[in-house]
Amino acid sequence: MGSLTREAIAAVDSTGQIDEVLELSEHLTDALWRVDSSGARPFDTPGGLIVAGMGGSASGARLARGVLGSRLTRPMYISDDYLLPGWAGPSTLVFASSYSGNTEETLSAYDDAVDRGAPRLVASTGGALVARARADGAPVVPIPGGFQPRAAIGYALVSALEAAFLAGAAPSVRSEIEAAAALVDSLVLEWGPDAPEDSEAKSIARSLHGTVPVIVGAELASAAAYRWKCQFNENAELPAFAASLPEADHNEVVGWEAAAELGRFSYVSLEDPEAHPRNVLRAELTAEVASAGADPVVRVTARGSTPVERLVSLVLLGDLVTIYAAVLRGADPVDIPGIDAVKAALSAAPVS
Ligand code: F6R
Repeated sequence: MGSLTREAIAAVDSTGQIDEVLELSEHLTDALWRVDSSGARPFDTPGGLIVAGMGGSASGARLARGVLGSRLTRPMYISDDYLLPGWAGPSTLVFASSYSGNTEETLSAYDDAVDRGAPRLVASTGGALVARARADGAPVVPIPGGFQPRAAIGYALVSALEAAFLAGAAPSVRSEIEAAAALVDSLVLEWGPDAPEDSEAKSIARSLHGTVPVIVGAELASAAAYRWKCQFNENAELPAFAASLPEADHNEVVGWEAAAELGRFSYVSLEDPEAHPRNVLRAELTAEVASAGADPVVRVTARGSTPVERLVSLVLLGDLVTIYAAVLRGADPVDIPGIDAVKAALSAAPVS
């Protein structure tokens, strides 16, 4: 199968998407500085946090919610639609996250927050969202331009973690973010393009080639599994699916027996050794059941001592695996034709 040297990657990855992944450590630390520079102060929001965002801009919030888990002290809800939930109001912080600042669902949700008198915080590179926030006096976390939104995951994750803290919904995890940035530096050497061809990330990409990946995890690894799925979709232009344990043990697990009759599915188990011991056991048992119909079954163990480190290690591995998967099938990781087509058709359609 094709090689994954820097030259081979560059031949397919026309805009250097892999370089953005390799800069994750810098993005995590720069994001902390950018949150500070927004001037945002803690909000009096006993109702907790609503994050309004779509796609790559929502993925940071999904990861943040997954890694905060039982440390959340107030609700943290992800609103990925045009309108906020009915309970949004003056006691809930609405954090609008849109890389471009022009995503129509997020703009609509922002306007809904204004109508409901909800305090607001924005993270974006600009666009109509920043124009509205500036006009309203809402603080803005300035995100650097020039990335694909999904490549700005370090910024999206850190700004969502900090928004949770500012909403009084979670403790500060700044020291964990700093530790994660240091861990990323070493993992990039182990999994990056200069690593041997049989290194973990390259080997996983090769083993999944030609399959429909189903990525499964519990707790923080569940959030990472959804990120892997989205990155397989957007970077490798492939169908991919994600599921959460323990829920998948009550339905999805039944389907594996028949999977091989229908197509070639692979099973990727993302595992946090510090998860609830029953979830650790479930990961092992479920991978065994999946092996009846999935080929291959790949089990990945998160690295690091703190939850943010373990989450970020899984995110980094998935981002690299999906770029390698794109290269192996000759698909330029920057291209997202399906997303572009729907956005173009919507912008040409009148808003009723
Ligand atoms: C593209 C990507 C998409 C966008 C989504 C929302 O790289 O990740 O999922 O994030 O279409 O756009 P933004 O992030 O500009 O609000």
